[in-house]
Amino acid sequence: MTILALDGLVKRFGGLTATNQFSADVTEGESLGLIGPNGAGKTTIFSLIMGEHRLNEGAIRLKGEAIQDLPTHARIQRGVARTYQVPRPFAEMTVAENIRVGLTPDSIMAMIFGSSNAAEELALAEAVGFEAADLDRLPNELSMGDLRKLELARTLATGAKVVLLDEVFAGLTVGEIAQISELINEKRRSGMTFVIVSHDLRSLEPLIDRAVAMTAGSVIAEGAYADVIADKQVRDSYLGA
Ligand SMILES: Nc1ncnc2c1ncn2[C@@H]1O[C@H](COP(=O)(O)OP(=O)(O)O)[C@@H](O)[C@H]1O
Ligand SMILES: [Mg+2]
Repeated sequence: MTILALDGLVKRFGGLTATNQFSADVTEGESLGLIGPNGAGKTTIFSLIMGEHRLNEGAIRLKGEAIQDLPTHARIQRGVARTYQVPRPFAEMTVAENIRVGLTPDSIMAMIFGSSNAAEELALAEAVGFEAADLDRLPNELSMGDLRKLELARTLATGAKVVLLDEVFAGLTVGEIAQISELINEKRRSGMTFVIVSHDLRSLEPLIDRAVAMTAGSVIAEGAYADVIADKQVRDSYLGA
């Protein structure tokens, strides 16, 4: 069953067409790799799914419901969430508080009026590899690996069924890549649906069921990872980048 349907997505930034009739279906429970050279439009696809940019043309359906006109928080409530290529924690908040933002749909109000669940925050923090002592740390004390873990914890905290991971391995050590890969695989086994963007194809391959390759805003190949990577157009697009 298709859980997320992307249908003819067009996004223009002034004269630049970032995505051009991009279409792909994500099946419930699958992990889809979205690959392509720098500037292909991968991050823009995530921003369109989350409603951070307005679509010029096309439709986005989550569990059959058109969501392209909904505000971001309403999409999150319906079960989709993303991480950012450049981690975006709230700088003045601790690890625990940043996770709490994900836990509460109306997060700003929750921060002000203080609905917190310390046990849940700790469980999420530990699930991504933090220790209890890390909960009080501030973002500026964290390594890139820890910032990516925090992104992941905040995203998982929303309870999303569909999770979009943008360059999830960038800036990580080999050990951190292994740790996050293990977490993703555990979540895959529990039925979570993923779309994963990564330049690190070697780390990506074992985490995905299928790949979609894009360049210049459009899909150029899709199918089994090995077939997509062997595709001539895909190879040329990477060489030209
Ligand atoms: N907010 C924006 N304003 C203007 N141009 C943008 C914006 N976001 C992305 N772009 C452009 O859209 C294209 C696709 O970018 P992006 O989606 O970030 O690609 P990728 O994630 O595949 O590297 C690039 O040419 C980029 O410069
Ligand atoms: Mg990007």
